[in-house]
Amino acid sequence: MEASKYPSLHVRTERIQADLMEMARMTDPELPYTRTAFTAGDLEARRWLMGKMRDAGLDVRLDTVANIIGRREGNQSDLPVVMLGSHTDTVRAGGRFDGMVGVVGALEVVRCLNEAGWTTEHTLEIVSFTCEEPTVAGLSPFGSRAMAGGITAAQIDSALGPEGNSLAEAIAFLGGDAARLAEAYRKPGDIAGFLELHIEQGPVLEREGVPIGVVTAIAAPCRGRVTLVGSADHAGATLMHERYDALCGAAEVVLGVECICAAPDLVDTVGTVGFLAVSPNMVNVIPGRVDLQVEVRSTRQGFLDRVRDQVTRTVHGVAERRRLEVSMEWDTIEEPVPIPERMQRHIQQACDELEVRWMSLPSRASHDAARIASVTPIGMVFVPSRDGKSHTPEEWTEFEDITRGVAVLGRALMRLDEMEEG
Ligand code: HGY
Ligand code: MN
Ligand code: MN
Repeated sequence: MEASKYPSLHVRTERIQADLMEMARMTDPELPYTRTAFTAGDLEARRWLMGKMRDAGLDVRLDTVANIIGRREGNQSDLPVVMLGSHTDTVRAGGRFDGMVGVVGALEVVRCLNEAGWTTEHTLEIVSFTCEEPTVAGLSPFGSRAMAGGITAAQIDSALGPEGNSLAEAIAFLGGDAARLAEAYRKPGDIAGFLELHIEQGPVLEREGVPIGVVTAIAAPCRGRVTLVGSADHAGATLMHERYDALCGAAEVVLGVECICAAPDLVDTVGTVGFLAVSPNMVNVIPGRVDLQVEVRSTRQGFLDRVRDQVTRTVHGVAERRRLEVSMEWDTIEEPVPIPERMQRHIQQACDELEVRWMSLPSRASHDAARIASVTPIGMVFVPSRDGKSHTPEEWTEFEDITRGVAVLGRALMRLDEMEEG
């Protein structure tokens, strides 16, 4: 293997481990690991991260949607920036690695570049995006979508924050200013390339015994909100044929989603009802109303269209047959995002130069990279998830695997910096 023209980065596992475990302590103590966007925990972790970024010599700022941006000047200031990043907000009772690995990993790349005395040609920005998880209906991933110009002022004006306040107030809580939304927009050409290191959140790398995944495409989540209204009534005095039970209707929808998405001819297509609220939710009252949220995902547009259509028809069919009132709105409709071949090659070559085994695979989870893809070429590096688990406290990735992923991220960045004018 010829000597590399790039400096070898001395990635420090103990620094990565210390940062991730310190961030893990910033959680709702009653429900580890919970640090949902726009909360006090989110703000605490952001302040901590900005301090770590400054310690690494970065010029740190918030954009107007509160994305945290750490900037490291390059040799050629007239070039577009190259960007690394991910998110630090979590789902409820989530894990300690989803998103955090990409932000801490980007920070570690900066520390390693400092120690190697290497300055990139492009200015480097590392970003922790605001609210990647779907805690704001229809607009998450929020910060990356906004940066790519995918969110309008009207959408923010009509949206609520997770604490029931306005989304604009929630953004201000984190230090952003929704009134100046457009200042956060980046247009094509502003960013020469974006790379995200992330845990796989699935079982493939562990099952195949391969330490690095080079992502080929990012599955698209489509999310819908359904309300079924029947007739609340006395559970004892109402005979079975006299009922309009909203929860029985919802149960048919839940099983219908499972059946539709488990069709044997579908590939890389899933469906879930992860949220369901029953009212009045008492043991001796026939449920009068159910609000549920359904999500379908696929890496293939044709399958996504098919299951979304089938789910919609199932919801309306159940309502009609059970004489329930129904309202349904798909408030998130994404398309699968392919990853440019040349960005995959930067990562593949980085692995080969570092003599690290890799494999190609699609991402079944969605990511900030999918949202920023509309304004810049993206690439994603995966590291294995133990037992494929994620979005649970059991989520785990070995620190040695993360270290290897950071080394690949750093080398891919240097390749990107050398070859992409943007
Ligand atoms: O839901 C997702 O795929 C991501 O974790 N937000
Ligand atoms: Mn997630
Ligand atoms: Mn994530």
